[in-house]
Amino acid sequence: MSKEYLWWRDGVIYQIYPRSFADSNDDGIGDLHGLIGKLDYLAELGVDGIWLSPINPSPDKDFGYDVANYKDIDPKYGTLADYDLLIAEAHKRNIHVIMDLVLNHSSDQHPWFVESRKSKDNPYRDWYIWQDPKNGKVPNNWQSIFGGKAWEFDEKTGQYFYHMFVKEQPDLNWRNAAVRKELLSVFNFWADRGTDGFRLDVFNEYFKDAQFRDNPTKIGRRAFDAQEHLYDTNQPEMMGVVHDIRAILDSYPERYAVGETFMTTMEKAAYYSGEGKLHATFDFSFLWNKWDPGSFLKSIQKWESAISADSWPNYVLNNHDNKRSATRFKAPEDDERLKVAAGMQLTLRGTPFLYAGEEIGMRDIKVKRSEIQDPVGKHYWPINVGRDGCRSPMQWSKDINAGFSKGKPWLKVHPNYITRNVEVQAEDPKSLFNFYRKLLKLRRETPALHRGSFMSLNFDPKRVLGYLRQDGDQTVLVALNFGKRKVRLALGNSLRRRQWELLLSNKRVTSPSVANGWLALEGDEVCILRQK
Ligand code: GLC
Ligand code: CA
Repeated sequence: MSKEYLWWRDGVIYQIYPRSFADSNDDGIGDLHGLIGKLDYLAELGVDGIWLSPINPSPDKDFGYDVANYKDIDPKYGTLADYDLLIAEAHKRNIHVIMDLVLNHSSDQHPWFVESRKSKDNPYRDWYIWQDPKNGKVPNNWQSIFGGKAWEFDEKTGQYFYHMFVKEQPDLNWRNAAVRKELLSVFNFWADRGTDGFRLDVFNEYFKDAQFRDNPTKIGRRAFDAQEHLYDTNQPEMMGVVHDIRAILDSYPERYAVGETFMTTMEKAAYYSGEGKLHATFDFSFLWNKWDPGSFLKSIQKWESAISADSWPNYVLNNHDNKRSATRFKAPEDDERLKVAAGMQLTLRGTPFLYAGEEIGMRDIKVKRSEIQDPVGKHYWPINVGRDGCRSPMQWSKDINAGFSKGKPWLKVHPNYITRNVEVQAEDPKSLFNFYRKLLKLRRETPALHRGSFMSLNFDPKRVLGYLRQDGDQTVLVALNFGKRKVRLALGNSLRRRQWELLLSNKRVTSPSVANGWLALEGDEVCILRQK
């Protein structure tokens, strides 16, 4: 691995849900001009790349994850010219742009599907997955993860089509060479416009079993969970496409692809990334961990050992599909616990993916049944209220609608925006936002932190997590106290004899003493030291 700073490996990526980020024309929906207006903010925060959830034309049955045209921008977000401007303005600030490509399925309003469902002999029929009924019923036992059977009957032509997500998201047929060619050309289309990278939505679902065999069953709460997803996910044919995608990206300088590995193990996720494959794939363990250093350490060690030497890990505490970490960790309002979470995520060996609002400790909104937008919430209420909670508008200021829009936002703003917003936190040197800025700066300036090796200092920690990061002759020690009470981290013989200087802490301004072999931490402390 080269020593030179590589934006997607050594840098920090910030996910934006464009609908909820910044609205420039007050229609209640965020847009590209709004986003362009916030690039200075992102540069000030210090991120290296932004990943935009889908901005292609979409009827919004799944808010952009149902695409009706892969080679255009949805008018509610702007135009292709606005997108070009976004790229140019982002590049001026050294910010790279990652697009979300949803190539497993399209919208049922996509012209290809409109054609496909017209008749069995339509030239686009085979662009989707159509099957005859079996004994007058569905072709097999496959289920939709968003609820109900994965097969939808089409009265007109007497066949079923397959959809892993809602029925308005029919799955594309990647076994058809014309489909494959057309979908791969989407990478060129956007890379030619200067797009730096791609996040591949549920890419390991592209292929389904050619024989449409039933999935084996197991115990599970929902019908979907009561199956081993042997035949509707991770088919061997996927690796060929992964190689094709990488070859396209390698024909441009410094392009990147990160895959959303869906319903799979860490080993499988690791298998899809590396030389000649995707640059990275997500592991989502951090989204499920309790606020406990031991569970995080276990995930880190598992991910570190699963990933191959020619690949690179990443860490995710938040995204647009899950409860925000501040809500999950029941973070007290002083944000000190969130500083510990940030201190961990930004000092691990792996690309940190932040999600808009995480840097100011945004919490989930509570939606009433009548306010639900997300198809998952609509289907599963009240067992699962859906994903609207983490998608509320970005809290910029105490102005109307948190400064997001002067019009009625598509989703309500969290009532805490009056006190929890960017403007207030930017002015407070002790705020979470300013702590993120310091961490991002430190990470960028310290090679051991962005590319160094990782070694944990304690095993099965109950209250404090400690580790070393090392690059060349630079050694950094990170100690994180997960609790409110003071704790001590035991340093082994060789560490205690070294001299340490303070790089950053949320609780002290001068170096702590480690001479006696113990590093004493305050409650909720992030302590980052460098060996002198
Ligand atoms: C991914 C996206 C999610 C979307 C689904 C279907 O999991 O992150 O938001 O609903 O794919 O495209
Ligand atoms: Ca708008």
